[in-house]
Order: sequence, then C-alpha cells, then structure tokens
Amino acid sequence: MLRNSDHGFGTVTIVLHWTIALLILGLMLIGFVMRRTEIDPALQFSLYQWHKSFGFTALGAALVRAIWWLVERSPRPVPGLRPLEHVAARETHRILITLGFLTPLAGWAVASASTLNIPSFYFNIIVIPHLPLPQSDSSEAFWAFTHALLAYAMLALVVIHAAAALYHQFIRGDAVLMRMLRAGSRPSHAEAADLREAMKPLPGGNDP
Ligand code: HEM
Repeated sequence: MLRNSDHGFGTVTIVLHWTIALLILGLMLIGFVMRRTEIDPALQFSLYQWHKSFGFTALGAALVRAIWWLVERSPRPVPGLRPLEHVAARETHRILITLGFLTPLAGWAVASASTLNIPSFYFNIIVIPHLPLPQSDSSEAFWAFTHALLAYAMLALVVIHAAAALYHQFIRGDAVLMRMLRAGSRPSHAEAADLREAMKPLPGGNDP
C-alpha cells in the first residue's frame, strides 16, 4: 500500500512524514548545541558540518515531500472533524511544508554569506557550492537571524501539530494519529456506516 487512499495514508507519505520529523528535531538539537560558545571548538566544527549535511538532506526530503503532496491525493478528513479543525489542520500543514523549505534554504544562505568561506561538505562526499550571495558580516548576520527565526517558528508549529495529534488520539479517540502510523488504514466505523448508508438502495429501487 504505497499510495494514499480515500481513508488513509500510504507508506510513501508515512515514511516521508516521520523521516522529515526526525530530521527537523535532530537539526534543531544540533543547531541549538553547536551555537553554544562554551563547547570544544573541534566538536563545534564537526557539529556544524553534520548540521549542514543533515540540513541538505532535509531540504531534499522537503522537495520530495512537496512534489508528492502536489501529485498525490489526500485522504478524506476523519469523520467527526469540525470544518474549522479541518481548515486549521490543512493550513498548518501548508505552513509546515513551506517552512520545511525556507528554513534549510536560509541555513544554506548563512553558510554562503559567511566571510569565513568554509565549504559545505555533504557527508564528506561532495562539496555543495555556495549560493550566489554577497559575503559580508552584515549579510551573514541577516541570514543567521532569518534562519534562527524560521527554525524556531517551525519548532513552535511542530509542537502545536504534535499536541493536536495527541489530543485526537487520547481525548477525542479518533483515527487522526493512527492514520499517520499505519499504512492503508481501513475506513473507520463511522466512515463504513456513511458508506453503507450511501450504498443503500433507494425505496422503490435505484432506477429513475
Ligand atoms: C530543516 C532544516 C534546518 C533546521 C531545522 C535548522 C535549525 C537550526 C537551528 C535551531 C540553529 C541555531 C540557531 C540559533 O540558536 O542561533 C541553526 C543554526 C545554523 N544552521 Fe541550521 N537548520 C536547518 C538547515 C540548515 C542548512 C541546510 C544549513 C546549511 C547548509 C544550515 C546552517 C546553519 C548554520 C551555519 C547555523 C549557525 C548560524 C549562526 O552562526 O548564527 N542549517 N540551524
């Protein structure tokens, strides 16, 4: 069950979702630690290199995720979801997908604008070229501020998004979280009842 159905997400969407979630949380942690001045400079340098490599991976994954989101159908909303909840969830997903792009791009801009001109190795395999940006202290400061702002805004949204999923799982008891854990979920009882209702023969037969 690779693709999404009307009732649930397929393996591709689920794997992309959790891979990106792990990458973002890991990058937040590394980004936060490597900025502390009290750590050993050699460790700090390695953390920067790991952060850039995983950051480029997150950028690639965000690109694949956005293309998949554009070409793949979305399952129907879980029954019982109020229209306002559905709109809020949809908009949060859109903003998260956008931030998933803009945050690593701004990180790439920091590395490119830095006057230190340190090459960005992708896991010691290849060198990713800098973006064509002016290299100056003010340009680096601007992109570092933008990158941090986007990263912490994304973290805030991820926390809200995760809290909403837990609320659905443990308070509302619906299938919102389970659909992102198990590929090819079957229609819930409520959906099955709706389907049965829709397929019932009309009184006097279905013919006009
Ligand atoms: C989703 C992807 C990313 C996330 C969530 C993320 C997150 C962060 C965070 C939380 C910080 C610390 C901000 C602070 O407290 O000042 C940081 C710093 C940094 N990130 Fe990222 N990052 C991502 C991608 C990237 C990429 C792709 C690059 C470069 C190729 C990059 C380069 C940097 C650099 C150079 C800094 C240090 C900025 C400074 O010196 O002030 N990041 N990142």
